[in-house]
Amino acid sequence: MGNIIDGKKISASIKEEVKKEVEFLKEKIGRAPGLTVILVGEDPASQIYVKNKEKTAKELGINGEIIRMPRSTTQEELLKKIDELNNNPEVDGILVQLPLPSHIDEFQVTLAIDPSKDVDGFHPVNMGKLLIGKPGIIPCTPYGIIKMLEYEKIEIEGKNAVIIGRSNIVGKPVSILLLQRHATVTICHSRTKNLPDIVKGADILVAAVGKAKFVKGNWIKDGAVIIDVGINRDENSKLVGDVDFEEAEKKASHITPVPGGVGPMTIAMLMYNTLQTFKTHNSL
Ligand code: GUN
Repeated sequence: MGNIIDGKKISASIKEEVKKEVEFLKEKIGRAPGLTVILVGEDPASQIYVKNKEKTAKELGINGEIIRMPRSTTQEELLKKIDELNNNPEVDGILVQLPLPSHIDEFQVTLAIDPSKDVDGFHPVNMGKLLIGKPGIIPCTPYGIIKMLEYEKIEIEGKNAVIIGRSNIVGKPVSILLLQRHATVTICHSRTKNLPDIVKGADILVAAVGKAKFVKGNWIKDGAVIIDVGINRDENSKLVGDVDFEEAEKKASHITPVPGGVGPMTIAMLMYNTLQTFKTHNSL
């Protein structure tokens, strides 16, 4: 029976640390960190995500603000808003909620954000620093996964880490972070042959495919550590991960649940990244 990794508990401890440091630095510097989230359009899931970010920021003493722009916003208007925020010294972190409406080029938007304010870590400067192992801003979900492994004292060095999914937001950056920590990393994707056989060799498995219960219990090596990044609805509209939890839990040494696993870590790491940008902007 696997230990269930409690993402709520771990994220709460990270948020508590961020809150304490924010309180201390607020006194010292005379202002709070500022995080501005831009939401373009009315996507229902995005509405919930940005509200959560604002609420969590406030709980931690960070000035969280949402700028809501209509779906009809042009790319030029959005870039102008980002430029204003880049030049606003009270704003330490800028996050443009994705996905954007199809008439806006996501890459151009990412490029427009000052890399020192890019709390998502998606700007090519931050992605490049990650790739070559220089200090920069690390994307929240991959960073949250590493913090979970550290918290649980799971050894990474020399382990076979298998990542399913090659997205820029999760699969690619988490692969680099695991490689930096000396894992032997295999990245799998939709064209991978014999996926179950590759997964059977995984000491650490990160599933980030976005398909409900895609990873079966009989693919799991005894004692494996399973990190499930998926948030899907099953046939009964129940929230489930990319891994068949009931089956996999019997084989794994550690496993993250959905919900209550990776999800809460992402938002905690966004607050952590905002604190880092605030410190950088104040030469700390
Ligand atoms: N939409 C879903 N996940 C994310 C994320 O990590 N950052 C941003 N900006 N938008 C998202």
